[in-house]
Amino acid sequence: MKKADINWAELPFAYMKTACHLEYYFKDGKWSEAKVVEDDKITISMASTCLHYGQECFEGIKVFEAPNGNALLFRGEQNARRMIRTANKILMEPLPEKAFLDSIYKLVRLNKQYIPPAGSGASLYIRPLLLGVSGMIGVKPSKEYMFVIFCSPVGPYFKGGLKPIKLLVEETIDRAAPDGIGDVKAGGNYAAGLRASKKAHDLGYNEVLYLDARYKRYIDESGPANFFAITKDGKYITPKSDSILPSVTNDSLMIIAKDMGLTVERRQVDIAEVSTFAEAGCCGTAAVISPVESITYRNETFVISPNSEVGPVSLKLYNKLTGIQAGTEEDKYGWTREISLDEK
Ligand SMILES: Cc1ncc(COP(=O)(O)O)c(C=O)c1O
Repeated sequence: MKKADINWAELPFAYMKTACHLEYYFKDGKWSEAKVVEDDKITISMASTCLHYGQECFEGIKVFEAPNGNALLFRGEQNARRMIRTANKILMEPLPEKAFLDSIYKLVRLNKQYIPPAGSGASLYIRPLLLGVSGMIGVKPSKEYMFVIFCSPVGPYFKGGLKPIKLLVEETIDRAAPDGIGDVKAGGNYAAGLRASKKAHDLGYNEVLYLDARYKRYIDESGPANFFAITKDGKYITPKSDSILPSVTNDSLMIIAKDMGLTVERRQVDIAEVSTFAEAGCCGTAAVISPVESITYRNETFVISPNSEVGPVSLKLYNKLTGIQAGTEEDKYGWTREISLDEK
């Protein structure tokens, strides 16, 4: 099969139009079959609840080329379940898990020329979107929904891939309220974080590191990713918080770390503990592991990786995780699902 004419090694983490996307509609109590659409515009009522009241949510999943030329989906059922949790929290109609997974398989087959070649470091990013589309003015849940799923070949989220990044703790802007919706993947959480990320970028940092909004004391997560640290006594620690997104990547890393013999602690992580970190990282589907070079908090910069190099434990975790995703490491967890590209 001929691949699209793309410079795979230089791909940024950005949107690129592919062959088609899929659309599903929820109307009169049931979901439709997939509609294959080549145009990348969608048509919805300007009075849709997703546009006015943020009744919108999404997911992010990666697909890799397997060594045998098929495609490998990484833990897609976790994303299906998370979208169902998100939808339930903001009173939307979720697409059932099986239909969600089938939509990925169909989309990948129809866009197989856009799956980056094995070993290129790039992947096919899958973006499912759920939208409330009933035209209404009152603040009420929509009756009708649209599920859109599209894909785009992408390179690393943070330029430089494994090059360590600098984080800024921004205390004057909260991403999510305690008892709010920070634990689900609703678009509004990202709008709330734009100011903080812009401020961090403008000041020369790569991303923001949020503290919990109630006490401004415990680490929550970074803008687009969870946070973990390897302590000087060799533990994998990661924040437990009701206002962060339960990350599929972090969950996988905790399991791999435990199997590597590390003690894993998911608990409140006080920002004052930063001096105990031997390594730190931001982790997520897009970021994979982005090692953290430094954390700046109240005008003080704590340097975690002085030589601006990824630490040995983070590198081992990264190699294991990306090896499983790409099918070059044994997947004893059953996390990957092979998508045969010949079926329709
Ligand atoms: C706010 C936030 N936290 C964490 C993550 C990481 O989650 P996952 O590993 O499931 O991609 C993401 C990205 O998906 C995110 O947007």
